[in-house]
Amino acid sequence: MVERVKGTIGILTGGGDCPGLNPVIRAVVRRADMLNYKVLGIKNGWLGLVEGLTEPLTLISVSGILPRGGTILGTSRTNPLKDEADKKMVYENLKKLKIDYLIAVGGEDTLGVARKLATEGVKVVGIPKTIDNDIEGTDQAFGFDTAVSIVTEAIDRLHTTAESHHRVIVVEVMGRQTGWIAVVAGIAGGADCILIPEQPMSIEQISAILGKRHARGRLFSIVVVAEGFKLAGYDAAVTRDKQVDQFGHEHLGGIGEVVAQEIERRTGYETRVTVLGHVQRGGSPTAFDRVLCTRYGVKAVDLIEEGKLGEMVCLKGNRITSIPFEQAMNKLRYVDRELIETAEIFYG
Ligand code: F6P
Repeated sequence: MVERVKGTIGILTGGGDCPGLNPVIRAVVRRADMLNYKVLGIKNGWLGLVEGLTEPLTLISVSGILPRGGTILGTSRTNPLKDEADKKMVYENLKKLKIDYLIAVGGEDTLGVARKLATEGVKVVGIPKTIDNDIEGTDQAFGFDTAVSIVTEAIDRLHTTAESHHRVIVVEVMGRQTGWIAVVAGIAGGADCILIPEQPMSIEQISAILGKRHARGRLFSIVVVAEGFKLAGYDAAVTRDKQVDQFGHEHLGGIGEVVAQEIERRTGYETRVTVLGHVQRGGSPTAFDRVLCTRYGVKAVDLIEEGKLGEMVCLKGNRITSIPFEQAMNKLRYVDRELIETAEIFYG
């Protein structure tokens, strides 16, 4: 006997892309098919709901996407709540496209929109995605593990060239408001100094750390700096230009160059900069992220099946569970003090 279709789930991926989005989409479609839901892919994040741009997702269309980076649905940083007319279109399209349930995959911005819509009665669940790993309410967002492994490999490679040339190499990594990537990849790659938004440091402190290292005969150093780091005495993060996105975020970038110039000026050590940029968000997800995404995708559909709407799936220890949006997203998740202190043991 063919079971009746229980409803249509719309899925969208919003904000910066990252490895793991495709495994999430695949898991949602596979689980939804098993439980008799149809899935409609919404193109380009919230923009797709404003414009009514969708594609049906089937077992065939998600076949083979597990190891692929990026998102087959496309993404954008569109904020549909910024403009009343856009918001109205979202509601009209949800109705027109007969979307009964929504799965929003994204970071604090995308999930912030989902949270607001949930309070207005939209049947939505969220999946936490960001290489920055700064979403409160989950022990880990997906994409972070892959970014850390890319940065760790880069630090390993930079180590050998820094050592050969007796140089300081400053590695600028992503991390707008929190320094998760910098600290975790910095520990994994044996960084000699790690600079993060949570903890301003002065150029004197940084120079002293590098000086200590030189004094014990290590004539090269790796400094990892998160893009949102502020040098003590500077009141703002370094930005690429004056623009802000629809959620009000500045385009960060350039702190690596500032730190490198200051280090060279103060210490006289030859210094170079490497900005890893969007490489950190590209390519295939790690095995850890593929499994996390698969579990997140399955759980999101299960939440819909159980009627647990207005929640975000999350990782707690080793368990996948869920948490209401309003408990998940009140503040950012900053790097644990204990982790920072562990990193500091290896400075200098
Ligand atoms: O939000 C994740 C993130 O990777 C941040 O670390 C970074 O500041 C931002 O995205 C870069 O955004 P864009 O892709 O718009 O340059």
